[in-house]
Amino acid sequence: MNADGRRTKLNRTPEWLALGKHREELGQTHLRELFAADPGRGTGYTLRVGDLHIDYSKHLVTDETLTLLRELAAATGVAELRDAMFRGEKINTTEDRAVLHTALRAPADAVVEVDGENVVPGVHAVLDKMAGFADRVRSGEWKGHTGKRIRNVVNVGIGGSDLGPAMAYEALRAFTDRDLTVRFVSNVDGADLHEAVRDLDPAETLFVIASKTFTTIETITNATSARSWLLDGLGGEQAAVARHFVALSTNEEKVREFGIDPQNMFEFWDWVGGRYSFDSAIGLSLMIAIGPDAFRELLAGFRTVDEHFRTAAPEQNAPLLMGLLGIWYGAFFDAQSHAVLPYSHYLSRFTAYLQQLDMESNGKSVDREGRPVEWQTGPVVWGTPGTNGQHAYYQLIHQGTKVIPADFIGFARPVGELSDDLAAHHDLLMANFFAQTQALAFGKTPEEVRAEGVAEELVPHKTFRGNHPTTTILAAELTPSVLGQLIALYEHKVFVQGAVWNIDSFDQWGVELGKVLAKRVEPALTEGTEVPGLDASTKALVATYRELRGR
Ligand code: F6P
Repeated sequence: MNADGRRTKLNRTPEWLALGKHREELGQTHLRELFAADPGRGTGYTLRVGDLHIDYSKHLVTDETLTLLRELAAATGVAELRDAMFRGEKINTTEDRAVLHTALRAPADAVVEVDGENVVPGVHAVLDKMAGFADRVRSGEWKGHTGKRIRNVVNVGIGGSDLGPAMAYEALRAFTDRDLTVRFVSNVDGADLHEAVRDLDPAETLFVIASKTFTTIETITNATSARSWLLDGLGGEQAAVARHFVALSTNEEKVREFGIDPQNMFEFWDWVGGRYSFDSAIGLSLMIAIGPDAFRELLAGFRTVDEHFRTAAPEQNAPLLMGLLGIWYGAFFDAQSHAVLPYSHYLSRFTAYLQQLDMESNGKSVDREGRPVEWQTGPVVWGTPGTNGQHAYYQLIHQGTKVIPADFIGFARPVGELSDDLAAHHDLLMANFFAQTQALAFGKTPEEVRAEGVAEELVPHKTFRGNHPTTTILAAELTPSVLGQLIALYEHKVFVQGAVWNIDSFDQWGVELGKVLAKRVEPALTEGTEVPGLDASTKALVATYRELRGR
């Protein structure tokens, strides 16, 4: 604390300064040297969390680095903030809200209070209601307006009301009911809804309208068009809406206003942030796809990592470690981005999901007390499934000028009903997985290149500097539980970073300005009205748009 009672700025704390000094001492130390000095590093620098084996040996750290990083976490009160979060305290100070996604997967007998009320019974009541509904849709008992069974589920939502269930639906395809068609519409571009419904029979289609606030313009616009599409296809009878629309929301009034019976609403609460919401009612489309039992396995996976994060000692605490490593590279290696590279086709949307989780949470530049930060906060998160990335951007990771810490996520066994021939691809996939982290860490020296007889002028081009840090996360198989474990691992990693950086990871004021301006500009596009105070560039662009649009 300073004399004025405010927290000492992070970069003035002795722990931060000690890390800076240690970084200077580490200099250009190469992973080749760190491994040569410690033969036990490959097994010693690993953690086990639930079903996840986490190897952090290929990081530019020593025992001393890790000790100093943990001291930073202790000095910045990470454990205290974590405990306050689990207790239901209002740690989202700019919105005056509790942050309780962990209560969404708490066991039925847990007690978590917000404003003196235990929220866990409500969580389980909604889960049971979801399970009952999902079972009725899956069994064909829930019929559409004309008496046909539901064969298509279209989730309409955006951001946290889309990315989680959409990602998990892809991740758990092998566990889905293949007789159901499940699609996700998020973009207000009419093409999204058009492509999602163009080959569907309205009589067999259920729309799941997912919106925490039920005021998000993209979602309400798409939901309104979906309702018109349905009514056009079913002869215009308003009564059809009740059999073909359900809502996932915190806002009953708006749901009713839209015309959805609150009986067909699955509620959640303002203490669930949008990007932390997919294990709430927001998971309904996913639950219909994979069934309530698999959904509960997913929740159990989350719970495993929640418990680990809450109770494991700092030396063994995986989210703490992963968070601190990111802070290390951002602050002392000037790393601007973080790659997440899953070696599983089923995780094709995983990084997109993490982009919102991480970048909406930690893309902040003032601290909790409103003072400008003087250190790097959240990185740009990016990546696509291996091996595709290897034939696109890995060149830059290997030989470019940037420091890009990366997480490699892989599995020992393929999932699903692959033929023997296709299942045999798995070893080749994973050979690439292991080869890449090896190449990134150890590279190829000029001497090694020369020893291959390479012409001298090509030696610099064929040399790999190495020393690129990676984490390897390995599990036996991508199951619902393992997916839950992975997501909770990243949720808590993001939490740790926000706590150390002293930022509010749970608000998202940065998305507001664009929304307000879009509302102001729209009449200029459609009606040509003057927008007072419009800048010269945007004014000229709007005029060009109208001309090209033929207005
Ligand atoms: O983009 C801002 C945001 O508020 C996200 O945090 C949220 O996930 C998304 O919009 C969707 O909001 P809603 O669920 O209220 O429609």
